[in-house]
Amino acid sequence: MGKFPLREQSIVLIGFMGVGKTTIGKTVAKKLYRDFIDIDEEIEKRFKMPTKDIFRLHGEKTFRNAEKDIISEICQQRLKVVSLGGGAFLQKEIQEICLNSSIIFYLDLSWDRWKDRIELLMESRPVLQGKTMKEMKQLYEDRKPIYEQHHSRVDTDYHEIEEVADYIAESLKLAWDIYEPTS
Ligand code: S3P
Repeated sequence: MGKFPLREQSIVLIGFMGVGKTTIGKTVAKKLYRDFIDIDEEIEKRFKMPTKDIFRLHGEKTFRNAEKDIISEICQQRLKVVSLGGGAFLQKEIQEICLNSSIIFYLDLSWDRWKDRIELLMESRPVLQGKTMKEMKQLYEDRKPIYEQHHSRVDTDYHEIEEVADYIAESLKLAWDIYEPTS
C-alpha cells in the first residue's frame, strides 16, 4: 500500500482502555473537518452486539481477528480520525499497518489518574472483569511498552478533552506546514 501525502494520512489514537480515545478522537475530527471512526463501534456493528457479548459468546480470539481485519480496511482510507481499542496494539501486524499508513498519537494517562476511572469502565470492559486492583495495575504496566510505537505522545493527565484535542490539531498543522508546505 502506497503512503498518502502527510496532510491526507489518517490520524490514529492509541492508549490504554478508558483514557478517552473516543471522546478526544471525535473532538479532533471536528477540528480537522474529518470523519471519525471508532474501531470498537465498527466491530460491534459487524457482530450486532456489544464488545462484552462478543467476548462472552465468540471469545477474545474472534474479537482480535475482527479488530485486525477492520483496522486493515480502515487504514487504507485517508483523511480519517480513528480510535483503536486499548488491546489492538498487542498485535504486531496492527502496529505495522498503522505505523506505515497513518499518524499515530499515544494518549498517555498515569496509573494514578486512570484508577479513578475504574468504576466507570468495569462493566463494559471484559478484560477488566474479575481482576483485582493488583492485576489491573499489572495489565496497565504490561501494556505500557506496546504504546511506545507511536509518532507523538500526548500527556493527558490534568488536561481537559478540548485542550488535548487542540494540542493534537495544532501539532498536526505545524508538522504539515514543516514537512509539506503548501506554497
Ligand atoms: C480492550 C479495550 C477496549 C475494547 C475491548 C478490549 C483491551 O477498548 O477494544 O474491550 O484489550 O484493552 P477501549 O480502549 O476503547 O476501552
